[in-house]
Amino acid sequence: MGRKSAKGKAKKQKRKEESAKYAASFAKVEAANKIKDPLDLVAPFRKYDRKGISLTIEFFRAEDLSQTLTDWVFDLTKKNMQKLYEESDWGWKDKEKLEEMTEEKALYLIAMDKDSKPVAFTHFRFDMEWDEEIVYCYELQVIDEYRRKGIGKFLMQILELLAYKTEMIKVMLTTFKSNKMAESFFVNAMKYNLDDTSPEDPVWEEKEYKYQILSKEIKPKPSSKPQVPREEAMQTSPVKAASA
Ligand SMILES: CC(C)(COP(=O)(O)OP(=O)(O)OC[C@H]1O[C@@H](n2cnc3c(N)ncnc32)[C@H](O)[C@@H]1OP(=O)(O)O)[C@@H](O)C(=O)NCCC(=O)NCCS
Repeated sequence: MGRKSAKGKAKKQKRKEESAKYAASFAKVEAANKIKDPLDLVAPFRKYDRKGISLTIEFFRAEDLSQTLTDWVFDLTKKNMQKLYEESDWGWKDKEKLEEMTEEKALYLIAMDKDSKPVAFTHFRFDMEWDEEIVYCYELQVIDEYRRKGIGKFLMQILELLAYKTEMIKVMLTTFKSNKMAESFFVNAMKYNLDDTSPEDPVWEEKEYKYQILSKEIKPKPSSKPQVPREEAMQTSPVKAASA
């Protein structure tokens, strides 16, 4: 009995800690979603001036995208991705994709040239994945003429920085294994790794998953809490001051 109740207590305590941890993670996601313009956290990244091109990066919530921009992000995604979707077991459905791209939680960074013509975008979200606070990159699309100019990299660096600033644990994304361009980009160039949640092909049947989940962990900010307990710090600081 004694042992049972001790175990029960420990379990209860663990559950309490877990739910407190979940609440803290959830609060971080909520706070991140409330930031009016996340680019304010990384202001120098509003401009991209490299490799002979000059772009401005702008932030939008899905609901604030004009009809023209909504059509543009959808059409570019369809042009670049439809074939890959159809070759997988997911299939491509205009309506479903458009719904996903216009959900309330959908956030966008769009790169515009000097004539305000959009050339690249990422659809991302601050969200919970299982019990972890993460940035999920739903889409990264660059128009043909602007590829290999560092824009994809720049947009992913912004997502990683936003994850850091908002204290998310990692940046995640899904890619089709057949998309070798995406693999070279995310795995080789951007150093993304296979995420723990990526499905493993079963050994007992022929089935092979056509997609994989990649992620990059984001090093947390140094803790703002004092390293030494307060009382101790107060006792030691005059000595430190004297010897400095
Ligand atoms: C994948 C994609 C987003 C990359 O964007 P990008 O702006 O062209 O990439 P960057 O210029 O930032 O490339 C950075 C590095 O990634 C690697 N890379 C990018 N595209 C590559 C390709 N097609 N083949 C091999 N390596 C590639 C290179 O190492 C490159 O550095 P380098 O040009 O100095 O050699 C872009 O090609 C694209 O929009 N593709 C179609 C949509 C897609 O597949 N999106 C990803 C899945 S959601």
